[in-house]
Amino acid sequence: MANVIVIGAQWGDEGKGKITDLLSRSADVVMRYQGGVNAGHTIVVKDQTFKLHLIPSGILYPDTKCIIGSGTVIDPQVLIAELDQIESLNISSKNLLISEAAHVTMPYHRLIDKASEERRGSHKIGTTGRGIGPTYADKSERTGIRMLDLMDPQGLHEQLEWTINYKNVILEKLYNLSPIDASVVIEEYLGYAERLRPYVVDTSICIYEAIRERRNILFEGAQGTLLDLDHGTYPFVTSSNPVAGGACVGTGLGPTAIDRVIGVAKAYTTRVGEGPFPTELSGDIGEQLCSIGAEFGTTTGRKRRCGWFDAVIGRYAVRINGMDCLAITKLDVLDGLEEIKVCVAYEIDGVSTEHFPTNARKFARCRPIYKTLPGWGRSTSDCRSLEDLPPQALNYLKFLAELIEVPIAIVSLGASRDQTIIVEDPIHGPKRALLKPDGTPISLKSA
Ligand code: IMP
Repeated sequence: MANVIVIGAQWGDEGKGKITDLLSRSADVVMRYQGGVNAGHTIVVKDQTFKLHLIPSGILYPDTKCIIGSGTVIDPQVLIAELDQIESLNISSKNLLISEAAHVTMPYHRLIDKASEERRGSHKIGTTGRGIGPTYADKSERTGIRMLDLMDPQGLHEQLEWTINYKNVILEKLYNLSPIDASVVIEEYLGYAERLRPYVVDTSICIYEAIRERRNILFEGAQGTLLDLDHGTYPFVTSSNPVAGGACVGTGLGPTAIDRVIGVAKAYTTRVGEGPFPTELSGDIGEQLCSIGAEFGTTTGRKRRCGWFDAVIGRYAVRINGMDCLAITKLDVLDGLEEIKVCVAYEIDGVSTEHFPTNARKFARCRPIYKTLPGWGRSTSDCRSLEDLPPQALNYLKFLAELIEVPIAIVSLGASRDQTIIVEDPIHGPKRALLKPDGTPISLKSA
């Protein structure tokens, strides 16, 4: 039995969907713990492509329980569209459970998200516009609507009459927008409630029971470490905690339930939205990575910014998440490059550092210090073992593992399930947090 958290080690879009899908094979339960429909997972099974935002990718396995935890925020309209999508493909949703404590994204959240971004002008965050920030803000402000409120028609009436009155003042006075008609919204959301009612339960009990029954649980992180509200590149972050620590808060489980943490990183780096990105490539190579890697957002279709692998961020993600091992994705995207750069440290105001700076202004001034490695000049997408890889590709992987001080357990070389090298069992292999790949202890140098 092992309870595993899968997290993004960069700015999201690392290919967690494929890795969680692979690991879901040996999981009895897959649980989302944060984020909402800002996330997007693309999973390719044979000739079918699935785009999921909220439903855990484990839903594709008939016997896997899939839970949307209390730390998530739920846009019922999108969730219902996802349910329709999977049911139209004859995939059952009978194993889906939704936390009654998860907060609900309302129409005014989406409106405020977009209007506040416009108002920020050059200070905008580049959000997905899905109302995520305003939904979490209401949670903190204690004016949020939870799934359990949605399930109570009388209570929902009272709560929404009051809340929409309050939000209308903001919409009209602050953003010059038309007010919302509370009765229309209540009607619409009561409809959603009836469709979702069979799935809504106290999921903290279900997950605790799964632990007691010694089930294998996979906690599926959305977004990535650098988008974490507390540990990311604030203010250019999302409003939840994608880091491994978020899995306990967002599910209602204690930390003792967690056995290991698997990070997912691309063999290069991408970022959507605004904010500093030290290894960003603006020329031909950036374009090449974008087009070969099909770097367009699953949720918004936005073009992702592309850059070289950043080991400063990688090391930071290992430390912040207590990562045991790493899955490297999209190695094949680098196939055609003559040489490949890796950022090994930053130079900030003339001083070199291997540590990620918390201060966003300092981060914006970081200049990458690169080491250049030779490319391998041939396709890797058909490689199925480390021995199949060109020696330069193997060297590249070894270099990354040594630099960020974590073993690589999985290498992904394409979108489909079989385009994968399992280097070692990521779930049952030896736990190596704070150990170098050769087994010696890692000493964390001070900043
Ligand atoms: P929000 O989560 O929509 O509020 O957006 C905040 C920031 O997080 C923006 O830079 C988004 O582009 C980014 N973001 C949110 N979700 C994802 C994701 O799933 N992948 C990559 N970036 C994301």
